[in-house]
Amino acid sequence: MMNDLVNHTAHQTRLDLGHRDCQILIASRSTSAVDSLQQVLAPLPKTKIKSQVMVNGHTDPLDGLERMPDLLVVRLDTNWEVELEALNARPATQRPPMIIVSAESDPQVMRHSMQAGARDFFVEPFDPEEVLRSVEHLSREVQDNPANQDARITVVMNAKGGSGASLIASNVAHALVQECDESVALVDLDLQFGSLSYYLDLNLKHGIKEALDNVDDLDAIALDGYLVKHDSGLRVMGVEEGRMILNDEVSSERLRHLIALMARAHHHVVIDVPRQIDLITSTVLEMADQVVIVTQQSITHLRDTARLMDVLRDDLEIPNEHLDVVVNRYQKNAMITRTEIENALKQRSLICIPNDFKNVSESLNDGIPLLDIARRAPISKAMMDLCEVVKGNKDTEENTVLGRLFAKLKGA
Ligand SMILES: Nc1ncnc2c1ncn2[C@@H]1O[C@H](COP(=O)(O)OP(=O)(O)OP(=O)(O)O)[C@@H](O)[C@H]1O
Ligand SMILES: [Mg+2]
Repeated sequence: MMNDLVNHTAHQTRLDLGHRDCQILIASRSTSAVDSLQQVLAPLPKTKIKSQVMVNGHTDPLDGLERMPDLLVVRLDTNWEVELEALNARPATQRPPMIIVSAESDPQVMRHSMQAGARDFFVEPFDPEEVLRSVEHLSREVQDNPANQDARITVVMNAKGGSGASLIASNVAHALVQECDESVALVDLDLQFGSLSYYLDLNLKHGIKEALDNVDDLDAIALDGYLVKHDSGLRVMGVEEGRMILNDEVSSERLRHLIALMARAHHHVVIDVPRQIDLITSTVLEMADQVVIVTQQSITHLRDTARLMDVLRDDLEIPNEHLDVVVNRYQKNAMITRTEIENALKQRSLICIPNDFKNVSESLNDGIPLLDIARRAPISKAMMDLCEVVKGNKDTEENTVLGRLFAKLKGA
């Protein structure tokens, strides 16, 4: 799956997004072998090590994984032939780079391992230093390959229905393409009443239903066929025109696979989700680098926002720093001030999107993004500020030491 995504057809060549942790999977039939390899690899920086102990009839070291690792370390023993066969049965593009450790010294194991694409081979007893160096070398290679650096995944969710999540998801995704020249996929996961195609005046001939049905055969190039292109270069995926999908028609595993595929081919994946916690939304919430919670200035909005944040933190275990609150339709002279919202939610990095009936109505009625309608309007500027947060640059004015000081002096 990794290499076929190198030559994606996204809006532009992907830029270096900075290194993310290299995900290493250690697979073996033997728990003690997994443990000792885990100890050997423990000193590696910027890596996340997972393990898979193959039991009973399981022979494929990559079987049942939610997400393909960046690098695979397989420890083979008497069952080596079947395990290598299982790996070989996967298309080369759906196997991560692999290092083999063998308990068998039979030269056939090495020959077959190399045929299966192993990048290095060790026989037990091995020199731990050598294995460590080899894995480190390969993980650096993986991390240095820009094609292996996944997109940032941003999920936009309302704290209360109608707060503006769809307007914000579509406009921030558009602004990322337009202003930052990034390749962006926008996904409408409101499978019954999605509105993004109207907001961007697009006809979704192909979409998420077909993409989910075919996800096992998709690579980045085929995936692009299910994304509808906006004039700006933004790619959009939603339910096909005139269709409606029921939640239980969607397998979370397929959805996870589809979003991971999109993340491999773009700089950003922005997902508009309905306001509910179910299998679909929790699947993408767990994958998100960032969750943008959209609320407004009222007591009921604030109560629902606090509740949603508790659920995301406590039940879905999303770290607090992955949560950002956007106050939409913000008005300076409203009853509830920005400071009161910050204090109530214990959030210092609120982003406020002004209320702008005229430009928003025009944008939504004509299906034209705000930046194209009124690029100098405060609402468009606020969308651009939100882009910085979505990009992971949280140095908004409110977030700097000086910004916080000013906010305090202003009466926070
Ligand atoms: N900043 C704003 N200024 C003025 N009006 C706005 C603003 N944001 C949203 N609206 C109004 O709110 C309506 C709902 O917006 P949107 O479709 O983004 O909501 P939503 O939160 O996605 O709704 P749902 O919960 O149904 O998915 C829009 O039709 C628009 O009229
Ligand atoms: Mg919506």
